[in-house]
Amino acid sequence: MDGKGSDVKDLALADKGRTRIRWADAQMPVVGSIRERFTKEKPLRGLRLAACLHVTSETANLARTLAAGGAQVRLCASNPLSTQDDVAASLVVHDGIEVCAIKGEDNDTYYRHIQMALEGGPHVTMDDGADLVSVLHSRKRELLPGIIGGTEETTTGVIRLTSMAREGVLAYPIVAVNDAMTKHFFDNRYGTGQSTLDGIIRATNLLIAGLKIVIAGYGWCGRGVALRARGLGAHVVVTEIDPVKALEAVLDGYQVLPMEEASKIGDIFVTLSGNKHVLGRRHFDQMKDGAVVANSGHFNVEIDIPALEELAAGRKERLRDYVDQYTLPGGRRINLLGEGRLINLAAAEGHPAAVMDMSFANQALSVEYLAKEGKGLKRQVYPVPAAIDREIARLKLESMGVRIDTLTAEQRTYLSSWSEGT
Ligand code: ADE
Repeated sequence: MDGKGSDVKDLALADKGRTRIRWADAQMPVVGSIRERFTKEKPLRGLRLAACLHVTSETANLARTLAAGGAQVRLCASNPLSTQDDVAASLVVHDGIEVCAIKGEDNDTYYRHIQMALEGGPHVTMDDGADLVSVLHSRKRELLPGIIGGTEETTTGVIRLTSMAREGVLAYPIVAVNDAMTKHFFDNRYGTGQSTLDGIIRATNLLIAGLKIVIAGYGWCGRGVALRARGLGAHVVVTEIDPVKALEAVLDGYQVLPMEEASKIGDIFVTLSGNKHVLGRRHFDQMKDGAVVANSGHFNVEIDIPALEELAAGRKERLRDYVDQYTLPGGRRINLLGEGRLINLAAAEGHPAAVMDMSFANQALSVEYLAKEGKGLKRQVYPVPAAIDREIARLKLESMGVRIDTLTAEQRTYLSSWSEGT
C-alpha cells in the first residue's frame, strides 16, 4: 500500500503498530467474530466510509473489520492528542486503510485531516464527537446528498446531533451508538473509570490513596471514575447540577459539594461534565498549592485554560510529559494535565480493548444496518436496534464463558399476562 491519501507520522512504525493491534485484538472477540462473518458475506461491499475516531489499536481492529466487510475506509482522528502513531502507520502499510492522523497535530492540521477523510465523498460517516458531521454540514455541503447515514460514538456527539435534528438542519440519519446499553453502560462507566485514573497516574505517578478527588459530573463516566478512585483509597467529592444525579452520588456514599466549595479542598480535579468552563478563574483562585487539574470529557473546554494562562501570565513550565505547571500570583501552583484534553487518551491508551469490543461491535453492526436500511430512515437520530444490543451482550458473555438462564414456558406466560396476581 502506498498510502498516498494518508498523512501519518512515520510509516516505519508500522510493524510495532501491528503487534499492538494484535494484542488488542485478542481482547476483542465480539469484533473478531463480526470480522469473520463480514469477510465471508461482504455486507459493506462498495461502501465508502469516513471515520473520525481516536486512532488507537482498538479502533484499528474496528477499521480492519469494516474493510473486511468490503468498505473502503478513510480514518482521521477525533482528537489532536489521542492518535497512536504506530497504529496509524500499521493501518496504512498492512491493511491498506487511508489514515490522516498524527499525535499532537495542531488545530489546522486536525481539520485538514478531517477534510482528507472526506475525499471521494463517503456513503457512511462514523464520528466520535460530531466534528466530521459538523465539517460536512458547514464546509463540505456538496457531499451531503451522497450520504446514506452515520454513526456517533459518544455522549457529546449525540447531544450535538440531537440539537441539529431538533433544529431541522441534520441532513442524514444518525445511529446513536453511544446510547446502546452495551456501549455506555460499560465503555462510559468501566472504560472511563479505569482509563482516566490510568492517565492521571501515568502522567503524575501520584499515590491516589488518601487524596481528595473532585469529580465534576456524575453521568456514566463520572460514576465510573468515582468508583475506581474510591477503590484506590481516594476521598471522592462529586459536583453536579442535576439534583437526581447529585442525590444518587450522595446515596452512593460520596460527598457532594458545589464546585465553589470543592475547589478549596481538592487535590485532584477531574471534569467529565460535557460542559464548558466547569473549572474557571474563581475556582483556580481558591485551589490549594499543587492542585492537579485534568479533563476526561470529550472537548478541551471544561477547564477554562485561557483563564489559567492569563492568571499565570507566562509562568508556565512543563514538568513532565503531560504536566504543565502554572504559577499564580502569590506563588500557588496548579498542574494542568494533558493540555486539558481527554487525559485517558492523551497520557494513557484510552479504554481497554475488552470494553471497546462492545462499543465497536455496535459500530460495525450499526454500519451494516445503515447499509441495509439507511435509505428508508429519516434525518433523525436513531437508537441502535435493540436486537443488536442484546446480541452483542450475548456474544460477549459467550466469549467470557458465562452462561445464563432462559425463561420457562410458564414464566413467559406469566410475564405476558396481566390477570395473575398473588
Ligand atoms: N475512546 C476511549 N477509549 C478508546 C480507545 N481505546 N479506542 C478508541 N476510542 C476510545
